Amino acid sequence: MTAIDPTEPINLALLPCTAEVSSDGSLTIGGVDLIALAKEFGTPLFVYDEEHLRLRCRQAVTSWGEGVAYGTKAFLCKEMAKLAYQEGMWLDVATGGELYVALAAGVPADHIKMHGNNKSLEELQMALHPGVGKAGVGRIVVDSFDEIRRLEELLKAPGTLRTDQPQPVMLRVTPGIDAHTHSHVMTGQEDTKFGFSIASGAAVQAVEKLMDIKDLNLVGIHVHIGSQILELEAFVKTIEALADFFIHLDLGELCIGGGLGVAYLNSEIPLVSDMSTWADALKQTCKKVGISDKVKLTAEPGRAIVAQAAVTLYKVGTIKKLGQPRTYVAVDGGMSDNPRPILYGSEYEAFLPRAVLSDRRERARVVGKHCESGDVLVHDGYLPQDIEVGDILAIPVTGAYGYSMASNYNKQPKAAVVFVKDKQARLVLKRESYEDLLRLEQ
Ligand code: LLP
Repeated sequence: MTAIDPTEPINLALLPCTAEVSSDGSLTIGGVDLIALAKEFGTPLFVYDEEHLRLRCRQAVTSWGEGVAYGTKAFLCKEMAKLAYQEGMWLDVATGGELYVALAAGVPADHIKMHGNNKSLEELQMALHPGVGKAGVGRIVVDSFDEIRRLEELLKAPGTLRTDQPQPVMLRVTPGIDAHTHSHVMTGQEDTKFGFSIASGAAVQAVEKLMDIKDLNLVGIHVHIGSQILELEAFVKTIEALADFFIHLDLGELCIGGGLGVAYLNSEIPLVSDMSTWADALKQTCKKVGISDKVKLTAEPGRAIVAQAAVTLYKVGTIKKLGQPRTYVAVDGGMSDNPRPILYGSEYEAFLPRAVLSDRRERARVVGKHCESGDVLVHDGYLPQDIEVGDILAIPVTGAYGYSMASNYNKQPKAAVVFVKDKQARLVLKRESYEDLLRLEQ
């Protein structure tokens, strides 16, 4: 991290691509004024810049080519699924629920990739039969010997496959690489619940088993080493580590998974690598280690597509000026709409959309409304000194793993989500109501 004065205004490079500062110093995204949006739709509110989402999907497709998949766990709803598909991406889903939403959005099954380290029989059945008369999903990424047994069991039933083509599968392997990221989102090391270890020989055994099942077609190898990775080195090492194993198998596809990180803070801006730098570096590594350029190299970015596309708007409810060490600013959401700070110690910036270019001289901790001290959104931040109760406060870079990991803790209804574009806002996910909180009650 470079030393940057934390009291400086928010760096506009953290904001969605259509963000603009108006002549009165307030912020618009997609040509829509954020304060007006908060008034119309209430708070907390996730505001996604549709142009930014589309641009990032297009960059993914240009950089990686056909088959690059959006990691839907970062943020999924029908509109997001449609958008990613319209822009040429496949969808990576990790559960029956994600598969269900992607299909409900009208994404064709052959553009869906089914992940999961513990896919149930029902989930595998959904992947093989995603709907009446439909052939299976584009790829099932096989993760365990138990899953292979379940697939065999399902495939024994006559008529399981809706075409005479075998179901395409990939094998997820662990290369024994420690990516420099939070331990909760590190997945490439040997000591992991994911995939088959190359070093132990489990991966070769799994390949042999899959090749023996005539209704499955092993098309490639998959690897995912972790998330929020801000340097290319770990990805490069991954390809180097699995090169011998991969070349020997003579398969046509290699997927490097997701993981490309994004900047969350003013001080992180210079560290970020973009989609094409990521893809180019890995293509070059493949060349260097002797992986044929005929092999389809793909990826599954999630965060890099959606994180910077959104800001979350909150209303300030209480301000406690403690003097030293800081002021506490409480907003009307918190760990229920963004659990990343409490889960991973993630850090964010905050700013006032009414005064985007203002210096932020008030040392402040932005906290939520939940009954825990850990319910923090910005641990050690700065805000303009004239902040008041009733102000709309924005936290940028909240498009990934915020709404998708939201909860109803303290029976807080889920926030609403809008997409903005060309001066219009459209509601894509309604705010939950108190009645919604009772919908499962018997
Ligand atoms: N592919 C696979 C197999 C994955 O497991 C993941 C993320 C992705 C792709 C997308 O990764 P991305 O490009 O978004 O890094 N909740 C955590 C992140 C968990 C990532 C889980 N897997 C967070 O908020 O940081």
